[in-house]
Amino acid sequence: MATLPHLAAVALLILAAAVAVAASSAASDQSTYIIHLAPDHPALRGTSAGGGVAALGRLLRLPRHLLSPRPRLLYSYAHAATGLAARLTSRRSPACSPSTLTSRATSTPPIRRRSGAASPVVVGVLDTGIYPIGRGSFSPLAGLSPPPASFSGGCVSTASFNASAYCNNKLIGAKFFYKGYEAALGHAIDETEESKSPLDTEGHGTHTASTAAGSPVAGAGFFEYARGEAVGMSPAARIAAYKICWKSGCYDSDILAAFDEAVADGVDVISLSVGAGGYAPSFFRDSIAIGAFHAVSKGIVVSASAGNSGPGEYTATNIAPWILTVGASTIDREFPADVVLGNGEVYSGVSLYSGEPLNSTQIPVVYGGDCGSRLCIIGELDPAKVSGKIVLCERGGNARVAKGGAVKVAGGAGMILVNTAESGEELVADSHLVPATMVGQKFGEKIKQYVTNDPSPTATIAFRGTVIGNSPSAPRVAAFSSRGPNYRAPEILKPDVIAPGVNILAAWTGDSSPTDLDIDTRRVEFNIISGTSMSCPHVSGLAALLRQARPEWSPAAIKSALMTTAYNLDNSGEIINDLASGLDSTPFVRGAGHVDPNRAVDPGLVYDAGVDDYVSFLCTLGYSPSMISLFTTDGSVANCSTKFPRTGDLNYPAFAVVFSSYKDSVTYHRVVRNVGSNGDAVYEAKIGSPSGVDVTVSPSKLVFGEHHQSLSYDITIAVSGNPVIVDSKYTFGSVTWSDGVHDVTSPIAVTWPSNAGTASM
Ligand SMILES: *[C@@H]1O[C@H](CO)[C@@H](O)[C@H](O)[C@H]1NC(C)=O
Ligand SMILES: *[C@@H]1O[C@H](CO)[C@@H](O)[C@H](O)[C@H]1NC(C)=O
Ligand SMILES: *[C@@H]1O[C@H](CO)[C@@H](O)[C@H](O)[C@H]1NC(C)=O
Repeated sequence: MATLPHLAAVALLILAAAVAVAASSAASDQSTYIIHLAPDHPALRGTSAGGGVAALGRLLRLPRHLLSPRPRLLYSYAHAATGLAARLTSRRSPACSPSTLTSRATSTPPIRRRSGAASPVVVGVLDTGIYPIGRGSFSPLAGLSPPPASFSGGCVSTASFNASAYCNNKLIGAKFFYKGYEAALGHAIDETEESKSPLDTEGHGTHTASTAAGSPVAGAGFFEYARGEAVGMSPAARIAAYKICWKSGCYDSDILAAFDEAVADGVDVISLSVGAGGYAPSFFRDSIAIGAFHAVSKGIVVSASAGNSGPGEYTATNIAPWILTVGASTIDREFPADVVLGNGEVYSGVSLYSGEPLNSTQIPVVYGGDCGSRLCIIGELDPAKVSGKIVLCERGGNARVAKGGAVKVAGGAGMILVNTAESGEELVADSHLVPATMVGQKFGEKIKQYVTNDPSPTATIAFRGTVIGNSPSAPRVAAFSSRGPNYRAPEILKPDVIAPGVNILAAWTGDSSPTDLDIDTRRVEFNIISGTSMSCPHVSGLAALLRQARPEWSPAAIKSALMTTAYNLDNSGEIINDLASGLDSTPFVRGAGHVDPNRAVDPGLVYDAGVDDYVSFLCTLGYSPSMISLFTTDGSVANCSTKFPRTGDLNYPAFAVVFSSYKDSVTYHRVVRNVGSNGDAVYEAKIGSPSGVDVTVSPSKLVFGEHHQSLSYDITIAVSGNPVIVDSKYTFGSVTWSDGVHDVTSPIAVTWPSNAGTASM
């Protein structure tokens, strides 16, 4: 892709969403429950009328043991869910959460979004808030048209967030959602610790918002690194910030409230660099999946991080098919810093250290494991052993920047941070507080051998600044980027795409340091950090560009365009590498590939899908009508009269097949719509069969006669040969429909028998 010299990344930051039942505090025996109700449930009218708190328990017909202490209403939801969040007694409370109390549904007309042509677009960023003070990224571009009339949101003022000073024609929304957080804390937010306002005192939300839609800022950079113009993916889009994440996490009831508000406000894209920890929850227990479903059904694209739990399989979160799930890759910019050992050997690493550098003088080097702490945990390094020396620390456990902090506190002169098998060759540059560099596992082993075997080992570090180029090749998938297969729906390939998420430069808060360490007193306008939190807003910004260029496209069509035009080769012409293995990445790692904005605007064909398709998908997954009514606003569609033969029949722009035997054959149905400029286009299929299977499409030629015509085809993926000899767990291929102008490519992933390890539902 085009290089992104200005936006780029270091610390892995993903904010884990706490589950609905937050650890109940000692102060109260209550937990937060999200209660989904039918649209006509009297509790909704009761609460919105204000008499709800007293009447809540009665209206919900809750069992008596849940009513003492008295239930407390946190939120009522009307746009991204229909229901309430309330504090209920958790002692012997129902095992299931969220509780589902649906009564018979009535048919309420779905809200229709205005599809005004080429109207300005609003990106809703659900994150740690926003820090607009003195940040050019949130100043309006000269000549920016007025905000879209369809947007009804705004900025909330508090003592620490002056909306009339901070909001403008660029930053048009700023709200905060804290009731679930406070309920879990058991007390009010301590305002000396964090700001009970939309203000971002952490940095993450400011970074993601500016990546998606930041205005251009000339002469940006992080100290001397990555200097140049910084600009978001969609610089003309507006930003509406919804603060959902706080010092100790992000809570489901707050997340759902922000979805609710963002949908009601009329955002066009929701950017969510937040995800559940651990395996992805079932869709019906996942407030993000539920909120996103409602948003998508109202025409809003929801782009979300895949998570930073790689490289294990099934680690991707935010994996519902209506969500655009984004993994993280590198860009062609590096911050090299070499380790020069006393024996003359030189090993390359990366660093964003910006203080006084080391010179060529060799300094004694010690292994952290010999000085009290292999991982270099603060307070555990023996100052007598590390003072004045370079310390070799291993990755894992504590934050990488905290390791540098530990060395500084113990009086060390510098640090060599080495990867272990877990992180392989993945390098993430950090703005350490001591001269430091990070090396991959292979070099790490060599350095460690030297340090432990040489009687008087020495080293120094040579910092080489910012280097842009083809070596190493880019993009490569970060080892931390979460991977498929899809834990909840193995026939839906995840992640969907990859985008820049390593060493990304974007705006930062003025309220905390670039490392978020208390001992770091630096304050910066821009910071360089890494994570799928950084890749998600790149795609959110691209979705905003597509929403503006193609206002008639559905969220599924936008997603299809980004997926089928994504590229799979790096800038050296090889398959995009996986930094965890050093081998070619697979579609379970890179999804459909790396997003390509210029091609996505003209994909030729799109695989569309809407609410009815997603409901059929949930029915096929085995969800009951009452579970499905958590998703739909109109309960009448939840009778599962339309099921697919397989969940993989959802009209998805990718194929994942799970064989149950070595004789299996799977056929999926697909429909494509011609959105190219040529109404008479003829598309032919080119197939790259995964090893061990035969792939056929029928028909093999799609002859369109007019614009916007839809045609269908079946794809059959069948085990080939007898006996079959496939010694891999998975094999991969692709199908490309081409009219000579557009290549519409979908990956194919095959899971062989006895390798399906997913949960049910
Ligand atoms: C908020 O900002 C406006 C505009 O800059 C200013 O006039 C007003 O005095 C500020 N309010 C407070 C409470 O500081
Ligand atoms: C390198 O730095 C050290 C410590 O600042 C200093 O004592 C030494 O003279 C320097 N060496 C050279 C070659 O500049
Ligand atoms: C199920 O829902 C569909 C679509 O709303 C409707 O046409 C059909 O009559 C319903 N079937 C039953 C058995 O209720």
